[in-house]
Amino acid sequence: MVILNHQLPDLESKEVLNRLKGIDRTIPIIIAMAVGGERGTVELLKEGASDFLVKPIRSRDLLEAIKRAHTKRMADLEIQSKKFLSLGKLFPFLAHEIRNPLHAIGGALTILQRKCDAQDDTIAQCIEIIREEVRRLNQFIQECLDFSRPPARRRFAETDLNEIIRSSLNTMAPVIEAHPNKIEVITNLDETLPKIKANFNEIKQVCLNILKNAIEAMKNGGKLEIHTSSNQHERPRNVMIKIVDTGMGIDEKNLPYLFDPFFSTKSRGTGLGLALCKKIIVENHRGQIDIESKKNIGTTVTITFPFSL
Ligand SMILES: Nc1ncnc2c1ncn2[C@@H]1O[C@H](COP(=O)(O)OP(=O)(O)OP(=O)(O)O)[C@@H](O)[C@H]1O
Ligand SMILES: [Mg+2]
Repeated sequence: MVILNHQLPDLESKEVLNRLKGIDRTIPIIIAMAVGGERGTVELLKEGASDFLVKPIRSRDLLEAIKRAHTKRMADLEIQSKKFLSLGKLFPFLAHEIRNPLHAIGGALTILQRKCDAQDDTIAQCIEIIREEVRRLNQFIQECLDFSRPPARRRFAETDLNEIIRSSLNTMAPVIEAHPNKIEVITNLDETLPKIKANFNEIKQVCLNILKNAIEAMKNGGKLEIHTSSNQHERPRNVMIKIVDTGMGIDEKNLPYLFDPFFSTKSRGTGLGLALCKKIIVENHRGQIDIESKKNIGTTVTITFPFSL
């Protein structure tokens, strides 16, 4: 939990609150306010702070507030884990039931395509649309399955994050090249980066999801920068990936929800991309993923891994 001063010397407490909520919406935040700070505190309570204390704070009040916050957080976490548990059971069942008919539709389409008159544009177009939608549904199911899969024993190996970046950029190259507006890619990879124990495919999936978001945000073209770095000599020792785009940016009011499953502002978005990233980075690799963004300026995603996993 966090006890947050209402008045801060160098930052708006509202911004700190939003950033904390962006990291984890269940973190209880208690506002410490001076007499007279009521209006601002009410504002922060509306934004998601869970409680407040009036300064000077008596230790008994502080302990009470901590107890209340702890109880609430435990309840929130329990609700979350129950949700995941039921998702984990339901999705594989649903996936099976949906995939079989999709497979049959795909097969029937191929036959239709062969039989249809090559001159008939309308039918050919309709077939293409159905095929694309079938592909989308299949992809959606795969994303749901990836997301709901319980954390099984994964293969962790010495992994070079630079190699993951290069491999992800390779995979995305056709999308970047086919983009109607120019996307300039700049890589700044630290060649002395130490390897970390990680699952290559999972981290590559994370990079692909983030690169996809960045490209989707730069409809008018822009600059995509990817950096890797490490602070081998400081503590805590960690290794970092930073992906920066100059796209449309994110509305401040959306920042707390980015990692929620199914949160999307896109008409055809599933909203599982970042939820999966968080699961892979935080739960599976004990790392951290942060997003900073300014509307109409761009977005920076930072992933940090502890150096010795
Ligand atoms: N680089 C970015 N620039 C602007 N907005 C972003 C960026 N990355 C994420 N977002 C915002 O976060 C939301 C959630 O992203 P997420 O990747 O989880 O889902 P999605 O991209 O909408 O759908 P999906 O990835 O499942 O196709 C997006 O809808 C978008 O509003
Ligand atoms: Mg996405």
